[in-house]
Amino acid sequence: MRLENKKILLIGGSHGMGLGAARAVLAQGAQVILVGREKTALETARDELVGNVRTVQGDITEVDSHEALLESIGEFDHVFISASPGGEAGFDAPHPRIEASYFYGKVWCTFKFLQCVVRYISAGGSITLMSGGYAVRSTPDYPLVSMAFAATEAMARALAVSIAPIRVNAIRPTYIDQKQPLTSKTLTGTMGSNDDVGDAVAFLMGNNYINGETLSIDGGAGVIFT
Ligand SMILES: NC(=O)c1ccc[n+]([C@@H]2O[C@H](COP(=O)([O-])OP(=O)(O)OC[C@H]3O[C@@H](n4cnc5c(N)ncnc54)[C@H](OP(=O)(O)O)[C@@H]3O)[C@@H](O)[C@H]2O)c1
Repeated sequence: MRLENKKILLIGGSHGMGLGAARAVLAQGAQVILVGREKTALETARDELVGNVRTVQGDITEVDSHEALLESIGEFDHVFISASPGGEAGFDAPHPRIEASYFYGKVWCTFKFLQCVVRYISAGGSITLMSGGYAVRSTPDYPLVSMAFAATEAMARALAVSIAPIRVNAIRPTYIDQKQPLTSKTLTGTMGSNDDVGDAVAFLMGNNYINGETLSIDGGAGVIFT
């Protein structure tokens, strides 16, 4: 139980893969702080979970509020940022300013948040970032998602160096919790679940020697030659 009594911050913990991570780390005896924008979603998540759960309303795109948000939480051991906010992602979208783009919400707001996080994360702590299959494969519609996910993986490698010995890793989930079955796309013949991702996040948090890595969670989809 490597995460027993660890204090774990989940930005985007009220739903989806962040909630899956909450279930995984609570099962190891950790305490969690769920952060999201919607109070009702946070309360619903807290009611579903079993264990030591606190909720804090916050928005990672509100860069000027990062310090106050972290001050209200205090020191913690591990953080997973699954929230992936962002705007326009197409090549032809107007993008009048970078703030309107997916790249800004996903990459820049995370980077600014991590500049504050280093003052609150404990020695021996870790950061896990959210990438996705788009980091290495693209469709015509979302070039900025591909760019942002690739930058997120680069951020994990670069910050592992910049803020050592705090560890920084990324996960690259693909075909998780999809409404339409895409089972022909994976080697396992299954879709991934939020709990599959949560288990992987807990593993990266608890293993003290994995650093600067990106872990694929995709049923082998990434190794199929298409
Ligand atoms: N499904 C896949 O196969 C896959 C693979 C790789 C990557 N991804 C990406 O990974 C991201 C997370 O996926 P998911 O399925 O876990 O999403 P989800 O179920 O929509 O959950 C997103 C969580 O992030 C929170 N959130 C959203 N914007 C926020 C903000 N600005 N500040 C703080 N919290 C915020 C949400 O709560 P509030 O809305 O209340 O803030 C919610 O708790 C998605 O953006 C998705 O594009 C998905």
